[in-house]
Amino acid sequence: MANPPIENRRIVYAKRPEGKPTADCFRLETVPVDVPGIGQVLVRNDVLSVDPYIRMRMEAVDSYAPVMTIGELLVGRTVGQVVESHDAAFEVGDWVVGRLGWQDYSVASPKDLQKVTQGTAPLTAYLGSLGSTGITAWVGLMEFGRPKPGETVLVSAASGAVGSVVGQLARRLGCHVVGIAGGAHKCEVVKSDFHFDDCLDYKSATFDDDLRRALPRGADVYFDNVGGRITDTVLPLLNLFARVPLCGLVSQYNSVEPYRIRNYREVFNKRVTIRGFVLSDHRDLWPAATQDLMKAYADGQLHYRESIAEGLENAPAAFIDMLDGANIGKQLVRLRPAAATTTPRDAS
Ligand SMILES: NC(=O)c1ccc[n+]([C@@H]2O[C@H](COP(=O)([O-])OP(=O)(O)OC[C@H]3O[C@@H](n4cnc5c(N)ncnc54)[C@H](OP(=O)(O)O)[C@@H]3O)[C@@H](O)[C@H]2O)c1
Repeated sequence: MANPPIENRRIVYAKRPEGKPTADCFRLETVPVDVPGIGQVLVRNDVLSVDPYIRMRMEAVDSYAPVMTIGELLVGRTVGQVVESHDAAFEVGDWVVGRLGWQDYSVASPKDLQKVTQGTAPLTAYLGSLGSTGITAWVGLMEFGRPKPGETVLVSAASGAVGSVVGQLARRLGCHVVGIAGGAHKCEVVKSDFHFDDCLDYKSATFDDDLRRALPRGADVYFDNVGGRITDTVLPLLNLFARVPLCGLVSQYNSVEPYRIRNYREVFNKRVTIRGFVLSDHRDLWPAATQDLMKAYADGQLHYRESIAEGLENAPAAFIDMLDGANIGKQLVRLRPAAATTTPRDAS
């Protein structure tokens, strides 16, 4: 390597938010690049994934993940290129995915990296549909939703990274798939790009009636990404022995007061199974999930979109706006000008 990098820009957690995070909850710092030791590599991060769970980690109490401390580097997966290697398994130029944080350069150990190659799919897909996002959708649906052909699967945050994959996997299994998303445009995208049978706009004044009409035979699986009022509206529409993989509660992450569910008795009446799950508990399923997602993609049955912000300095805004619903598909941030990560075919 001709000129080793000297400076590393990174974003750290600066202030606990009250409700919606603001720009001053984050701080951009310039620090010396860490020096990789024996058995380590230095990675230049190209594209960063920003994810809703970070908001939970900004709370004052632990969720399933520990609370972040002020001054801590923001966590997030990146795709990047090895620029210095002190491990025989990695060469300069290798592309890797890892949880390397909101920063330009990261020192990493090989056990924390996955090598990815160009060709099958654009590299950014390994941060989304073909990576942990897709695996989350697969684990929740297949392990806890267990849909059967002909059943109705309802998905909230349907235009988002996880939700869009869930619906396509369910369609592939022969299910009738209905999405819920914010706004008429997003609902159109859910139907046209992700091939859901139907999609309802939860921001519409007629949402409750629309949803009831769209589910004349009820729902057998409700893949819940949002919680709150939407889940409350859905509960009476669930069928006997319905399954609810509870993937996240994004409608609640910025809330100061949690929404109180009123229709909980429906869970008892219909003998519904609600199963919260966290991806990291199910590593045994990752290989099967990855294989199936790759097959769905190769067969043209898994389409994806990405919303890409430009520049590390814009990562906080991309995160804040994503929690507000600005994204369609996976929210990413490009840290340096597009190179070999390639422009994905569906980038928006
Ligand atoms: N369990 C796990 O291991 C795991 C792993 C990854 C992700 N997750 C969870 O999966 C969910 C989706 O994550 P993602 O990465 O795919 O994000 P995403 O859906 O791509 O983006 C977040 C979306 O949430 C929706 N949203 C925001 N506020 C809302 C509200 N008040 N009511 C309804 N929808 C709202 C927005 O869409 P609209 O415009 O439609 O409102 C926004 O686009 C999150 O709850 C996340 O925490 C869980």
